[in-house]
Amino acid sequence: MVAVICSLAIAMLHQSNVIQAEDPNSVARAAEVLGNGGVVAIPTETVYGLAAAVDNPASLNKVFSVKGRPTTHPLISHLSSIEQLHGWANEVSSDAELVARSCWPGPLSILLNKSERLPYLVTGNRETAVFRIPAHQFARHLIDALQVPLAAPSANRFGRVSPTTAQHVLDDLGSDVDLIIDGGSCTIGVESTIVDFTCNPPQLLRPGGIPREDIELILGKSLVGQRGESRASGMLQSHYSPACQVIIANDLAHAEKLLAQQQSMGNRARIVQFSDDLPIYASTLYSQMRQADFEGFHSLVAIRPPETGLGQAILDRLLKASAPRF
Ligand code: TXA
Ligand code: MG
Repeated sequence: MVAVICSLAIAMLHQSNVIQAEDPNSVARAAEVLGNGGVVAIPTETVYGLAAAVDNPASLNKVFSVKGRPTTHPLISHLSSIEQLHGWANEVSSDAELVARSCWPGPLSILLNKSERLPYLVTGNRETAVFRIPAHQFARHLIDALQVPLAAPSANRFGRVSPTTAQHVLDDLGSDVDLIIDGGSCTIGVESTIVDFTCNPPQLLRPGGIPREDIELILGKSLVGQRGESRASGMLQSHYSPACQVIIANDLAHAEKLLAQQQSMGNRARIVQFSDDLPIYASTLYSQMRQADFEGFHSLVAIRPPETGLGQAILDRLLKASAPRF
């Protein structure tokens, strides 16, 4: 009996497309899958990414098809050293270099003009490209092994909540992903901050894991906020949406009132466990949204964070999640 159970477990493990980042073969296996035109879900400190080498059109096309993402939506190119920036981007301004050197590896992405070498398939036919160096060691080791950047959007279906664990990736994409590298829970838990350095002063395109104020302190000047329609597709109004309805409350008393209202309508609802510690709020938000869906909740009431530090990214994601869906 024990032998049967053991062999069953081994068969399941063998079938499974998940391996641990610490597995001594993880980098080599991921490189092999990517070399064969497959896609690999990789851990980063922000959210899990669905990776393809930028010089492999088969893998890149698979990223778009697995996500269900239009090919006009550009991908972030992940690097393992600042020096690589100069081969893949043109005209790296001194502001861009200064901020990159201060924040990388970390949750900052910078928009620059692309070099000829970077395929248009990565940039959705644009002349600009977004770059970042992730903090998770596995991602950097894989990029080192491949010697080319990894294009990686968040490893979720288009328009859904980003995954912050390997289990989330498996729940969302299942066997459509050739390999999932389990590197634990993402420590930041919201996507990177994106700043456009092709203009002066630079422009904030997406609030994220590095607060705007930190970048302004490094630069010694203010970033321009978003003007008109954003050029980053993650800024579509209804994005980062769980299946349940998200309702934003001003404070705890307001949240309790909104919760009671929902319950009086017969809706299963609960309040997002929130924390005055914004890094904790950020790192648990997406998993709470996914958990509420998993448990079949109708609505989730979230308390509005202050609009400072990571609060900007949290509020941005809450507003997107609560926006009307069409
Ligand atoms: O933290 C992150 O940034 C994660 C991890 C995996 O690195 N990645 C991520 O990728 O959030 P994605 O594709 O879900 O969001 C990247 C955003 C998209 O809104 C995309 O439109 C925008 O960056 N973007 C990328 N290249 C761009 C470009 N050349 N011009 C304008 N927007 C661009
Ligand atoms: Mg995304």
